[in-house]
Amino acid sequence: PSLNRVMSILEMEDIARKVISYKAHMYYSSAADDETTLVENMRGFQRLFFHARVMRPVSTVDPTTTMLGFKSTIPVFVSGAALAKLGHPLGEANITRGAGKTGILQMVSSNASLSAEQIAQARLSPDQVLFFQLYKNKDDAVAEERVKEVERLGYKAIFLTVDAITPGNRERDIRAPFVLEAEEAEAEAKGGVEKPRTVGQVQKQEEESQVNNEGTAGALIRFVDQDMSWEKTIPWLRRVTKLPIVIKGIQCVQDAVLAAEAGVDGILISNHGGRQLEYSLPSIDVLYRLRKERPDVFDKCEVYVDGGARRGTDVIKALCLGAKAVGMGRPFLYAQSAYGEDGVAKAVQILQREIVTAMKLVGARSVKELVPEMVEQVSWQPY
Ligand code: FNR
Repeated sequence: PSLNRVMSILEMEDIARKVISYKAHMYYSSAADDETTLVENMRGFQRLFFHARVMRPVSTVDPTTTMLGFKSTIPVFVSGAALAKLGHPLGEANITRGAGKTGILQMVSSNASLSAEQIAQARLSPDQVLFFQLYKNKDDAVAEERVKEVERLGYKAIFLTVDAITPGNRERDIRAPFVLEAEEAEAEAKGGVEKPRTVGQVQKQEEESQVNNEGTAGALIRFVDQDMSWEKTIPWLRRVTKLPIVIKGIQCVQDAVLAAEAGVDGILISNHGGRQLEYSLPSIDVLYRLRKERPDVFDKCEVYVDGGARRGTDVIKALCLGAKAVGMGRPFLYAQSAYGEDGVAKAVQILQREIVTAMKLVGARSVKELVPEMVEQVSWQPY
């Protein structure tokens, strides 16, 4: 369908799934075990309802926010997700350009299919802000070099991922080998896409990963340090960089408190989109509890959340609960897969419209006026 007829983020995902390869679909969509956390990330948002305020002047509303002092046109950012090229030949450059056009911030994955330098070069202007997601190498010297490299390239913050020290068990990803496009098309034409087909000219790493039964994710994070700790890793990172540090992958209140005590600049409440620990609490539920139990954390560092947000109302709910901004992973991968950079810009426009509508209807002129009293968690599950 033509891009101007696409109405919602989920519709964009549906379109993308029809045009990308079987492997890309399995890699992007998969999550751990029975994919309970994947589903509950979204259902967590559905358990939150608004106490909307009326009779407030809302003819003009301002949906802008900041992350670490950098401005964003809407309180949504790109959460770094690997291998954008699986879905579109231009890969991450699409996301960078779409984000630049619409004025949102992008966190670039350690495992992007383009180099950090190529992505920096894809920016519309040198002032466009990029953040870097770090998978810390076991070897401190290698990790240090990576951080210094992205600092040199002008990246503005390090998002240290801490929830993926070993790959989650993503069965759909593991089962789907890389195949040659032609072989895949042939298999599809014959109507047989269920079974994995012949393995084509795959990357060597991927071949090994098949043998190890670890899937794409496993192959990508084999080098990650499994011995990180608050005492050792945060001071180390502070020593090697002046950039702000955000911890990505906080999954409970206690760790949010420890992160704030460790003096980081921000935390990203995330369970990796349900791809790591199955039955990790839905991200929005962790945010809800943090707001309730430890409101002091929000004064010590910035709090962000990702996982399952697909609508403007989801974003507004998270902001009511104290988040500065909401990350999205799959939505931007799918948007660029289906329509390249225009798809990414369109996704932002869709969200912008939904966010402004929700702000008006809930009675908030700016993100500051979104407060915890405006949302309530219900115990029943809608439909
Ligand atoms: C991810 N995510 C991720 N996170 C990270 O820190 N480094 C990475 O390389 C990746 N790669 C990656 C690939 C794919 C295909 C997905 C779907 C996700 C997790 C990502 O940053 C984010 O936390 C989730 O995607 C958020 O959930 P939603 O928005 O996809 O529901």
